[in-house]
Amino acid sequence: MNRFTLLALACVLAAFAPALPAATAAGPAGPAAPGTRNNIDYTGDVIYQIITDRFVDGDPSNNPPAPLYSKDCVLSHLYCGGDWKGIESKIVDGYFSGMGVSALLISVPVENLMVLVPRDSASYHGYWPRDLKRPNPAFGSMDDFRRLVRVAHAHGLKVMIDFVVNQTSPARDGDPGFAEDARLYDDGRLLVSYQDDPEGMYHHHGETDFSSLEDTQYKTLYDLADLEQQHPRIDTYLKDAIRLWLDAGIDGIRVDTVKHVSLAWQKGWMAAINAHRPVFTAGEWYLPRDEFDPRAFRFANDSGMSVLDFTFAQALRTVFRYQDQDMRALDRMLEVTGASYLHPLDQLTFLDNHDQNRILLSSSATHRRLVEQAMVFALTSRGTPMIYYGTEQYMEGSGHAPINREMMRKFDRGTTAYQVLARLAALRKDSPAIRFGSQRTRHVAPEVYVYERRFHGSTVLVAINRSATQPARIEGLATGLGCAGAAPAGYADRLAGLLGGAAIRVRCDGRAEPFTLAAGAAAVWALTDEAASARPQLGHAAPTMGLAGAELTLDGRNFGATPGRVLFGGVPVEGAAITYWDDRQVRFRLPALAAGKYAVAVQRDGHRSEEYNGIEVLAAPPLSLRVVVDGALAAPGETVHLVGDDPGIGAGDEAAAVGPMFNQVLYRYPTWYADVNVPAGAAVTFRFVKKNAAGVVTARESGAPHRYRAPDAGTALVRVKLKGWTPVAGADS
Ligand code: NOJ
Ligand code: CA
Repeated sequence: MNRFTLLALACVLAAFAPALPAATAAGPAGPAAPGTRNNIDYTGDVIYQIITDRFVDGDPSNNPPAPLYSKDCVLSHLYCGGDWKGIESKIVDGYFSGMGVSALLISVPVENLMVLVPRDSASYHGYWPRDLKRPNPAFGSMDDFRRLVRVAHAHGLKVMIDFVVNQTSPARDGDPGFAEDARLYDDGRLLVSYQDDPEGMYHHHGETDFSSLEDTQYKTLYDLADLEQQHPRIDTYLKDAIRLWLDAGIDGIRVDTVKHVSLAWQKGWMAAINAHRPVFTAGEWYLPRDEFDPRAFRFANDSGMSVLDFTFAQALRTVFRYQDQDMRALDRMLEVTGASYLHPLDQLTFLDNHDQNRILLSSSATHRRLVEQAMVFALTSRGTPMIYYGTEQYMEGSGHAPINREMMRKFDRGTTAYQVLARLAALRKDSPAIRFGSQRTRHVAPEVYVYERRFHGSTVLVAINRSATQPARIEGLATGLGCAGAAPAGYADRLAGLLGGAAIRVRCDGRAEPFTLAAGAAAVWALTDEAASARPQLGHAAPTMGLAGAELTLDGRNFGATPGRVLFGGVPVEGAAITYWDDRQVRFRLPALAAGKYAVAVQRDGHRSEEYNGIEVLAAPPLSLRVVVDGALAAPGETVHLVGDDPGIGAGDEAAAVGPMFNQVLYRYPTWYADVNVPAGAAVTFRFVKKNAAGVVTARESGAPHRYRAPDAGTALVRVKLKGWTPVAGADS
């Protein structure tokens, strides 16, 4: 498509877009007015993760009966009474806002299995759903949930929910009497049970050993009945269910266990969310310490959702909890992740969670200080930091669930950790450098890390000395903080010395005067006053995927009070396609460009911002298509790959072909399969290629490519027979 055609399309689209005057908020279903919640840009937020059952019992009348409930949480594998009213009470008494927290992530809110599972526990955690369209009565009614959201919003807090699409509850092959046999209900109507599943709404292939992605995705995680998301009723159910919670007002979603569900289906599900009401969504792709998994980055870059940044969290834990690597590991991690994520600012960073040892190793002053330093690192780095409930109270919990999920016993607002969070969360909100900036290492040594974040004039310099015994003398430190006219400028520690830091002075040669960072100290210095600039400064764009006509939100500075234009993929977007414009936020409708990823920029008065890259335009809703090919023989070491004309299947480029296809679980060799995205309703062509272990194409499918028209909605399956292989001359199999 040439530039002229693109322009024409953009104009046509603009003509059909609803005419919303700039600086006007739309009605209830429309975008939020600026200054209120921004549900897709969380860069200025601090999230607080709550295990609902373990926080506050605000309504003893909803506590489950024995044997599911344990008074005073004596048996921590049972329900302990926490509920939505309890969370609400802490919102109202200011516990969260006093700590600077601006978003809550609460447990999966849906109705769960309410029987004890032998040797294990009750469903207090929420990961054993039985009806995704109904609330968990132990947490409250739907009215209680809506009220929680309303009260949170009234106090400036966003509400994220945890949500499960991978599985329902524990089940055992051949044992319908086990638990509830994973019976799944659709708003009270039975949909399926594990042993009575003639249509295959569940997978029945045994437990995964985690040995491959195929094994992980199509087998069962532990004993949790594994949903077949491709089944049309399950697909519809999961999409309808999340819409119901979106309609209840939620502002964000944590998606459980995304590693165990195909990327193709999840992208379709995410597109359904975006089409309904886009909210910040992050998937849990679990990674243990020291595991670097390119597939987690691919998921973050291609699924339309962010991830819980385990790569970040595990490096942080290695340095501040286990101390088996030094501070340079943080620097390396930031470099690697910065190059691997398409949208590093959108990833959700954390110190610990309910599946890990708590970050505090012991209650000694030294270990407490390490936790405080870890907080400083997370709250001044890229991404959105999440604090696990009780970390600010120095809760311990070495060992996995349920030891790391104890009842919250104290709400002391005087702890150093609480104060550190309060100060840094406030800074984060006001600091474009932290929210949108790029990071630069200013000094790194085994025990000391000094880094700077910068977005145009806004600058934040952070120094952490992990050593509990050795002060660090820092001389000649380069910084962008700047001096005052011709004289050195002083910068106070934004932590007010809470962690042993002090003020510094910066000379006009761009260096700080020599200073000593005390043993165990951390300090933060910031320049938040922004010099006036005519140039728009674009910091963030979201959602990162949408159909033509979908609304995109741009956040930054200096956009001006009156509308200019947006350049999307080089195409000017203006007039009615701009739905909102103020100095810090612009919203507009995506132009109808060919499917692909584009850069966006803001232009006003002849000045143009930097570009924000990687916003995907979809041709149509991404449909999850299972492609199955029979009779595809391959020599040992060879694998079969799928390539077609659509971008979701390689756009004709064999190097980008989808594969290796699978051949072990749902179908077995010589049948191969892959779940891929194609645009709903699209006519596509595809064929198969064989590659050797080095990734070289050794054979192509003979004959004309297969032709297929995708349905207009839902999921689909196409099964073909291989037409034969034509070897590629000179390629070794
Ligand atoms: C990951 C959750 O964080 C974990 O706690 C849960 O048990 C599994 N997914 C299964 O839902
Ligand atoms: Ca209760």
